Amino acid sequence: MSQAWWRGAAIYQVYLRSFADGNGDGVGDLAGLRGRLPYLKDLGVDAIWLNPWYPSPMADGGYDVADYRGIEPVFGTLEEAERFIADAHELGIKVIIDVVPNHSSTESAWFKEALTAPETRERFWFRDEPNDWQSIFGGPAWTQVADGQWYLHLFAPEQPDFNWDSPEVHADFENVLRFWFERGVDGFRVDSAALLFKDAERWEDLDPVHDVYRRWREIADEYGDRILIGEVWLPDQERFARYLRPDELHTAFNFDFLSCPWEPAELRRVIELTLATHTPIGAPPTWVLSNHDVTRPVTRYGRADTTFAHGGALHGTPSDPELGTRRARAAALLAMALPGCVYVYQGEELGLPEVEDLPDAARQDPMYARSGGANRGRDGCRVPLPWSGESAPFGFGGHPTWLPQPADWAPMTAKAQTGDPGSMLSLYRTALRLRHELLGDGTLTWLPMGPRVLAFTRDSGLTCVTNLGPDPVPLPPGEILLASGPLTGDRILQDTTAWLI
Ligand code: NOJ
Repeated sequence: MSQAWWRGAAIYQVYLRSFADGNGDGVGDLAGLRGRLPYLKDLGVDAIWLNPWYPSPMADGGYDVADYRGIEPVFGTLEEAERFIADAHELGIKVIIDVVPNHSSTESAWFKEALTAPETRERFWFRDEPNDWQSIFGGPAWTQVADGQWYLHLFAPEQPDFNWDSPEVHADFENVLRFWFERGVDGFRVDSAALLFKDAERWEDLDPVHDVYRRWREIADEYGDRILIGEVWLPDQERFARYLRPDELHTAFNFDFLSCPWEPAELRRVIELTLATHTPIGAPPTWVLSNHDVTRPVTRYGRADTTFAHGGALHGTPSDPELGTRRARAAALLAMALPGCVYVYQGEELGLPEVEDLPDAARQDPMYARSGGANRGRDGCRVPLPWSGESAPFGFGGHPTWLPQPADWAPMTAKAQTGDPGSMLSLYRTALRLRHELLGDGTLTWLPMGPRVLAFTRDSGLTCVTNLGPDPVPLPPGEILLASGPLTGDRILQDTTAWLI
């Protein structure tokens, strides 16, 4: 039986602002992305997910959407977006875009109307008195307007929350989905998917949210093979799984895996829990190592504490780049071998580190300013990609780039890594090609190889072995297809993954 494409896809996340700059203004755009589509084709990805591309004042990197039916002029035009979708499809690459239903922008037509015509405030959360809720970015979650009322914003003040008790909000988002489905997009990544509804006590995971996704699923199904991916950060797996019931979202990001320390028992626990959560409801698991909100894996895995937690608590703690890179390579092969979908965040395939020494004046993430600098924010994983050349902007486009690139990135460029069999880029290219043939959706069977080794066989017969312990371990019999690091004879060293068949 042929499987739906999204059940085993490799999905590449494009942070448009930092991917490639086609018009020389130092900011990534659609022209730049279109020019680099052959790179993504060569890399071997099945789909691209783009962060918000809508008109936006960029108070939160585009997650403050002023118009859900347009394209931010800095990125291009609607016509260009349509051409991009067609180009990607021509290459056999699907296109997923972000939709941001929890909040809007203070620059949106609806919010501006709410300020001048209070009878339209029902679309947002206006109250005469604020409660004690704090914004996820720091500071109070309420801001007062000129006539004395307060509006709720779970994120920055520039991002007023919608009121999902308003039928108008439902109708408008249903139209937005249709607008983009009709332009050919293959799916939506649903931002802050568990937050939409609030009551007097709670702002997360209220039951009516599931009715919204049931309706959205019906709409997606009307268009055929289109998908909805949830950004659902919920520690309770049972609550999480409710979003993936067969008539709701198709899939959701695995943040437990992303946050998991590089530690064998924990990794195994998270993998088993993930499979146990997804299998009974028939949803494909996903394996995510990074995105535009979290510390780059090379830096995280090079620290003594390899966990990820929001809040930037580990920012600037010492990290060994060699160790971090070795582990990031092993983690990539582990993630790609597991059953389900895998996500690759741009620059992960180049082994880029977190840029931790950005000048404070360059930082743009509202988390930084709203925490009074205590949280260094997420700019360090959003630095424009290095494509080629010896100095900034490293083939990205115009100079200066919107966030400065480190001066020593010449060896990290895609060009420098191309053709080098030992590079991170070569590892990702080979692994994605093999994954296409031998991995993706399905099941796994664990092989007992001791407490420090994660080893399993997949339906195709491919065996994946990751050694996290200090002692070299004999590999099971088979031909070695790929390894993340050197092997000694038939033994696999610490922090290495091998694929055999
Ligand atoms: C999650 C997005 O990934 C993040 O970048 C954004 O700041 C928040 N949602 C608010 O939209």
